Amino acid sequence: MSFFITFEGGEGCGKSTQARLLYKRLKKMSVPALLIHEPGVTALGKRVTSLLKWSQDIKISPLAELFLFNVSRSQLVTEVIKPNLEKETNIICDRYSDSTTAYQGYGRGLDLSDVKRVNSIAMQGVVPDLTILLDVPIEKGLERKKKVRTDRFQTQSRAFHQRVRNGFLKLAEAEIKRWLVIDATKSKEAIARIIWERVNKLIKK
Ligand SMILES: Nc1ncnc2c1ncn2[C@@H]1O[C@H](COP(=O)(O)OP(=O)(O)OP(=O)(O)O)[C@@H](O)[C@H]1O
Ligand SMILES: [Mg+2]
Repeated sequence: MSFFITFEGGEGCGKSTQARLLYKRLKKMSVPALLIHEPGVTALGKRVTSLLKWSQDIKISPLAELFLFNVSRSQLVTEVIKPNLEKETNIICDRYSDSTTAYQGYGRGLDLSDVKRVNSIAMQGVVPDLTILLDVPIEKGLERKKKVRTDRFQTQSRAFHQRVRNGFLKLAEAEIKRWLVIDATKSKEAIARIIWERVNKLIKK
């Protein structure tokens, strides 16, 4: 049976770093795996990403944002996630629906049940087997990202990022079986070890 693992957390918490480390480790063991991220990957997803992240010149309402992320997601599930899981390729995804709940729900303030309903349509029943939350104080995460090009989300207020962080923690608390919450102020190596311990169990199951 294949597994679907997602990485979640605020800006600069280390999602891409840890997703890559886990992917490499699986590959080294010849475990079939695919590393993807949200939004993006598919041709449609890439177009939508450029709107979501880099279009500072056009207005995008919170509701429109919710739909745009889910446009990218629905295409990714249909085109990449489902077919790969079906052929026993494990998927590691850097952000997924929980990011939308945290950012557009808790962060932007959209109705949480609306957000979850729209997410659920786009997910088409594909729920992660494991979601890793890399939890880090917002200043620390934003500081780590200082060197990269600033997108539409990084420039949000401190209060926005704080709501997102608290939102992720609430989501994890509500579904403790699916989530692994890690203190992401730890070193990259220490975090990778904690993740591996859990993933190794998942593989052996
Ligand atoms: N545990 C860690 N300790 C210190 N620095 C880290 C740690 N993990 C990642 N970094 C560094 O922080 C920066 C951001 O990491 P990364 O890109 O993995 O975060 P991210 O969560 O994917 O960010 P984004 O929200 O932009 O997608 C990188 O320069 C990375 O090398
Ligand atoms: Mg990243």
